[in-house]
Amino acid sequence: MGILEGKNILVTGVLTDSSIAFHVARIAQEEGANVVLTAFPRPTLTERFAKRLPAPAPVLELDVTNTEHLDGLADKLATLGWDRIDGVVHSIGFAPQDALGGNFLHTKWEDVAVAVHISTFSLKALTVACQPMMKGGGSVVGLTFDAASAWPVYDWMGVAKAGLESCSRYLARYLGREGIRVNLIAAGPIKTMAAKSIPGFEGITEDWSDNAPLGWDITDVVPTAKATVALLSDWFPATTGEIIHVDGGVHAIGGRLD
Ligand SMILES: NC(=O)c1ccc[n+]([C@@H]2O[C@H](COP(=O)([O-])OP(=O)(O)OC[C@H]3O[C@@H](n4cnc5c(N)ncnc54)[C@H](O)[C@@H]3O)[C@@H](O)[C@H]2O)c1
Repeated sequence: MGILEGKNILVTGVLTDSSIAFHVARIAQEEGANVVLTAFPRPTLTERFAKRLPAPAPVLELDVTNTEHLDGLADKLATLGWDRIDGVVHSIGFAPQDALGGNFLHTKWEDVAVAVHISTFSLKALTVACQPMMKGGGSVVGLTFDAASAWPVYDWMGVAKAGLESCSRYLARYLGREGIRVNLIAAGPIKTMAAKSIPGFEGITEDWSDNAPLGWDITDVVPTAKATVALLSDWFPATTGEIIHVDGGVHAIGGRLD
C-alpha cells in the first residue's frame, strides 16, 4: 500500500520531465494515486511527457489566469470519472524578463502584475476552483523559493513568492474548517525550465551545495517531489499554513557553512 493509495491528485505544472511537478506526479502514482495533469501553454507538450509517467494520466488544459478554464475544471474532472479531489499540487510560477535579473528598481507595474497574477493569486484561484470537489477535505501543496530573504536576481518573483507564502496561510485560515490543508514546500534551486529562464540564476545556485549542511544537488528533483507527496498524504493531518524547507538545510544556518 502506497501513502496515496486510491487518492485523486490533480497536478499542475508539468512542462517537461525536468519539471518538479513531473516527479511529484511520478512518485504520487508510485504511491498509488490516480493523477490528472493540467497543462499550459499547450496540452500536446504536457501529453508528450505524461507518456513517460509510470501510469496513464489524462491532461486538461488550464491557464490559471483564464476564468473559463478555472470555472470548468470541476466539470472536466467529473467527466473523467472523478467524484472528488483529495489533493492539489500548485507548481506554477512565471515572471516577465523585465521583472527578473537585477532590474528590480525599474520594473513596470504591468510586469509585476503578471508575475503576481500567475505566481501568487493563482494559488487562491486554483484552490477555489477545486473546492467544490473537496467536500471531504484534502491537501493543497504549492512550491515556493524561501521569500524570507532578498536573493540576487530573483527580484519581483521573490515578492510574488512572499505573497504566495502569505496567500497559503490565508487559505489555511479560510479552509481549515472544511478539512482542507494548505502548505508549501520551500525548495532549494533546481535546474528546471523556470529556473533557466531567470537571468543570472547561477548567482543563487553556485554556493548552495557548499552552504547546505546536508549538501544539495541542483539536478535532483526527488527530495522536493517526495516532500510534496508526503504533504499530500494522510501523514500531515494537523499541519496547515506551513512551509517545509527542502533545501539541504540552507535556511537553518546563518550565512556560510565553514
Ligand atoms: N526550480 C527551482 O529552482 C524552484 C525552486 C523553488 C520553487 N520553485 C517553484 O516550483 C514551481 C514549479 O517550477 P519548476 O521549477 O518545476 O519549473 P517549470 O518551468 O517546469 O514549471 C513552471 C510551470 O508553471 C506553469 N505556468 C506558467 N504560467 C502558467 C499559467 N498561466 N497557467 C498555468 N500554468 C502556468 C508552466 O506551464 C510550467 O509547467 C514554481 O512555482 C517555481 O517557482 C522552483
